[in-house]
Amino acid sequence: MIDLINKIADSYIPSKDELIALIDSYDNPQICEYITAKAVNIRKQYYDNKVYIRGLIEISNYCKNNCYYCGIRCGNKNVNRYRLSEAEILKSCEIGYKLGFKTFVLQGGEDPICDNYIIDVVKSIRYNYPDCAITLSLGEKSYEQYLSYYEAGANRYLLRHETATLKHYEKLHPNNLSLENRMKCLDMLKDIGYQTGSGFMVGSPYQTTENLANDLLYLARLKPHMIGIGPFISHKDTPFAKFPNGDLRLTLFLISLIRIMHPSALIPSTTALRTLSKEGHLLGISAGANVIMPNLSPDDAKKNYTLYDNKVYSGNEAAIHLEELKKEIQSIGYKIVAHRGDAFNYN
Ligand code: 5AD
Repeated sequence: MIDLINKIADSYIPSKDELIALIDSYDNPQICEYITAKAVNIRKQYYDNKVYIRGLIEISNYCKNNCYYCGIRCGNKNVNRYRLSEAEILKSCEIGYKLGFKTFVLQGGEDPICDNYIIDVVKSIRYNYPDCAITLSLGEKSYEQYLSYYEAGANRYLLRHETATLKHYEKLHPNNLSLENRMKCLDMLKDIGYQTGSGFMVGSPYQTTENLANDLLYLARLKPHMIGIGPFISHKDTPFAKFPNGDLRLTLFLISLIRIMHPSALIPSTTALRTLSKEGHLLGISAGANVIMPNLSPDDAKKNYTLYDNKVYSGNEAAIHLEELKKEIQSIGYKIVAHRGDAFNYN
């Protein structure tokens, strides 16, 4: 395994069987220690000890989709639905900018609202904060829609593929959604010129090690600029309410492996990690992640944007507690910087 890890660090793309064997060794302490050290080393070469921050604004929890894992699925009647106004979003940006954020991430369900809302918001942020990056995470749209947001001033787009295995995709999604379209959207986003992010959940129901190997091989082909993974966490109002949460150590192992396979990628230490463990965000950084996304949403929005149960929303993941977060990150040997943090090889 050690040889395989070294080969991967030298740009070798492993076979599916090799990946399966490697992932299955995540609970072997020596291998885990080795892969973490390797990932940390590679991360240091590319990003030194810098951690980039993104201000996350959860703009809407309306969603037309009914994904079996997600708490804001349209079939969940217990959700208090909200959509932030342009003024509320700009207020969040204003607070964030003062705190030092240079990237705003507008995330929402697949809200069927007209595009002018998004275009107007993006234009306003672009006008008010010309030095900031705007990231969108609003799900599957048409080429024309993606292009119109890009032309309005958006720079980046996050769209996790969720799982790259067709059979598994069909177990997580109703049949009006398709893996083919999801992948097509990711290709369109890259074509348009977005810095593009993808990723998947770790430990989602029915997931096998082979599925995870397929996810890593898909990412090796797609070469996204950003790769976000986080543990699956069950939500009580979904068909997956009774499924166990994803494994923390496996998620961390995969962050390290992704760092080795994508040395220059922007890899967030996600909120889901932190929901699983109080120190999850720090463990993610120590495993090779280099981005953290504090929550800039207004309090009411945070409370109602519940993709999974027990989502943290009042601790140091809140953007207003940035100073505390800075100290925590410093205590593990890293440093939050107020840069835009564009993708390494992006012009
Ligand atoms: N547990 C963990 N992550 C989830 N997401 C959605 N529902 C859950 C859940 N129950 C993730 C999906 C989505 C991202 C915004 O949140 O991967 O792409």
